[in-house]
Amino acid sequence: MKDVYILAIESSCDETSVAIVKNGNEVVALEIMTQIDTHSLYGGVVPEIASRMHTEAVTICLEQLLKKTDLKIADLDAVAVTYAPGLLGSLLVGVEFAKTIALVYNLPLIKVNHMAGHIYANNINHKLAFPLLAVVISGGHTNLVKMTGDYEFEVLGSTLDDAIGEAYDKVARIMGIPYPGGPNVEKLAATGNPSYELPIPVKDDSYNFSFSGLKSAISNLVNNEKMRGNEINKADLACSFQTTATDLLTRKLSLALKNTNIKNVIIAGGVSANKYIRSEIQKACDKYEANLHVPEFIYCTDNAAMIGAAAYPLYLKKEFADYNLNASASDEIF
Ligand code: KG4
Ligand code: ZN
Repeated sequence: MKDVYILAIESSCDETSVAIVKNGNEVVALEIMTQIDTHSLYGGVVPEIASRMHTEAVTICLEQLLKKTDLKIADLDAVAVTYAPGLLGSLLVGVEFAKTIALVYNLPLIKVNHMAGHIYANNINHKLAFPLLAVVISGGHTNLVKMTGDYEFEVLGSTLDDAIGEAYDKVARIMGIPYPGGPNVEKLAATGNPSYELPIPVKDDSYNFSFSGLKSAISNLVNNEKMRGNEINKADLACSFQTTATDLLTRKLSLALKNTNIKNVIIAGGVSANKYIRSEIQKACDKYEANLHVPEFIYCTDNAAMIGAAAYPLYLKKEFADYNLNASASDEIF
């Protein structure tokens, strides 16, 4: 069969990224421009600034990408773009850019859901083996998803309130840890001990998650200690939070491994860059003799290569989008 080269575009939050992906699993070239330095001045992503920066960055990104390969846009087979979920203004920049390229070069357009992208990051340099359990952990999602084939999703459990990445970011804010919260809390936690006792969430036999109680407990603890004039041991508190949150993930995954007897596990989403979480999930998989696959670090956080990977099964099925495609802030795939 002829090789398929897809140009992929991602701009759902604060990373502008373009990539060329061959046959859904080989990254020919990847370009990522992050806006972290700008948003860190405000302690979080400012949507209006994000979309303006995407507008400036997206053409530069594509120019730089094309310098990395001998391929020309006219040699490619399709244009894929993240159309949902995310920040609407940011998504629109990528969607309009993708539509323009597709129209000018007469290429089919493929609309890709950002969360499918995170899942298919596991298909890069690796072949997804079904059935599998996907632990989807990002800034906006926490789901335990069963997959029986390409795009065959069955949600076993979801967060009842905050997503785990959101909890990392909020806990960072409460503790005065700078943006981006997730990676900084992880770094600090690595130097501490889990000495603070925090409430254990969702003790029932469901596959659901909850993180807002943990966040509130930490907020109360920090405020109470402040009022008493006591110092908080930030490393220990970060470690206690991370240990409790991770324990919830591994408890629910273990339950699903036991009940379904599925032997393939993947982790998807920005939080999968967390080394402690990876190692604890690995332990749970070992216990149930399941194979764990984790994306390479570069493909864990937002990038266009994962969008190209997720577009490939849609290309094979000829599931092409209209040239009047619109972005959506909240289109859920699961
Ligand atoms: O997948 P992602 O890049 O964007 C969304 O699709 O939401 O995930 C971003 C989230 C943020 O909440 C960020 O704090 C978290 O992933 N994150 C981490 C780590 N790296 C990113 N959380 C914990 N540990 C990390 N190393
Ligand atoms: Zn993401």
